[in-house]
Amino acid sequence: MADRPVLVTGGAGFIGSNLVRRLLEDGHRVVAVDDLSTGALENLAEARSERAAGRFTFERLDIRRGGLQAVMERHRPEVVHHLAAQVDVRRSVEDPLHDAEVNVLGTIAVLEAARLTGVRRIVYASSVGSYGEPTLEELPVDETYDRPATSQYGTSKRVVLDYLATYRELYGLESTPLTLANVYGPHQTTAGEGGVVATFIGRMLDRQPCAIYGDGEQTRDFVFVDDVVHAFVLAMDRAEGQRLMIGTGHRTSINQLFRALAAATGYDHEPLRKPARLGEVRHSALDARRAAAELGWKPWTTLEEGLAATLGWAAGRA
Ligand SMILES: NC(=O)c1ccc[n+]([C@@H]2O[C@H](COP(=O)([O-])OP(=O)(O)OC[C@H]3O[C@@H](n4cnc5c(N)ncnc54)[C@H](O)[C@@H]3O)[C@@H](O)[C@H]2O)c1
Repeated sequence: MADRPVLVTGGAGFIGSNLVRRLLEDGHRVVAVDDLSTGALENLAEARSERAAGRFTFERLDIRRGGLQAVMERHRPEVVHHLAAQVDVRRSVEDPLHDAEVNVLGTIAVLEAARLTGVRRIVYASSVGSYGEPTLEELPVDETYDRPATSQYGTSKRVVLDYLATYRELYGLESTPLTLANVYGPHQTTAGEGGVVATFIGRMLDRQPCAIYGDGEQTRDFVFVDDVVHAFVLAMDRAEGQRLMIGTGHRTSINQLFRALAAATGYDHEPLRKPARLGEVRHSALDARRAAAELGWKPWTTLEEGLAATLGWAAGRA
């Protein structure tokens, strides 16, 4: 990887900024591209202190607009981690055109700029939301599981997998899509797919009411951001052409999550019970055995450890 930098789209976002920090720690030069629509420069405060040493560059840029190719020509990244996206499932249902503009057309712009400037590999943040509703018996699902997505967000993220395959066929552009479960950890806002952890923590620390939609027995596979970022790092050189599931395989109910966080924060209010939200899957969990075999990846952070780290970060900002 010698001299060429690594470029992270969505680098000011939740997962992107954690990835930027890890890449800098590993000794890479890093270019972060972000339009700051949901990301924040604050997430890159540490990284920006590396600017003087020439190890970090931030480019404020909308991937749909011109300029991306010029940025890539200037920096000549070898690997692009593509995380910039419209991540709001609800918004994708209300405004599917906007969702597709960012997630499909924006991604094509990234791929075009990448192939024209000699990028070797794209590591793509794919989503558990792209594969529809599994039955309890099917859980945790592996890479053979495939059903239509239940939101436009899931579909727009999924279409990209075909584009990645086409760019490999046509131009030899390598790619590794990582299908992420519900990611949580420092820098998360309440908007993302794993936002329930950030929402509960924020509201509990402020002693505000927390809402649980439906009976709270719906389950999610919560995976800690440091573990996810590690998968992105491994995928820079391994598992070309493979779609890999990145999750813990464990399901945690929203009620269990609420109780764990309430105990950790000394929060003694009952949750507000609200009607279930339409279109949300009931249960989800990912089987990461192929990622173990192909990447040498496994999630090493327990939920207790990850929640404690996230709480520590949130309390430090409060
Ligand atoms: N958080 C999760 O649990 C989860 C699960 C599955 C997949 N993902 C995927 O991981 C990636 C990162 O998600 P996140 O949770 O960190 O969300 P995030 O909103 O924090 O990060 C997305 C980043 O992309 C930027 N962005 C959005 N549109 C852009 C545009 N047009 N041009 C440039 N930048 C743009 C935003 O400003 C933001 O910084 C996304 O691709 C998302 O689909 C996340």
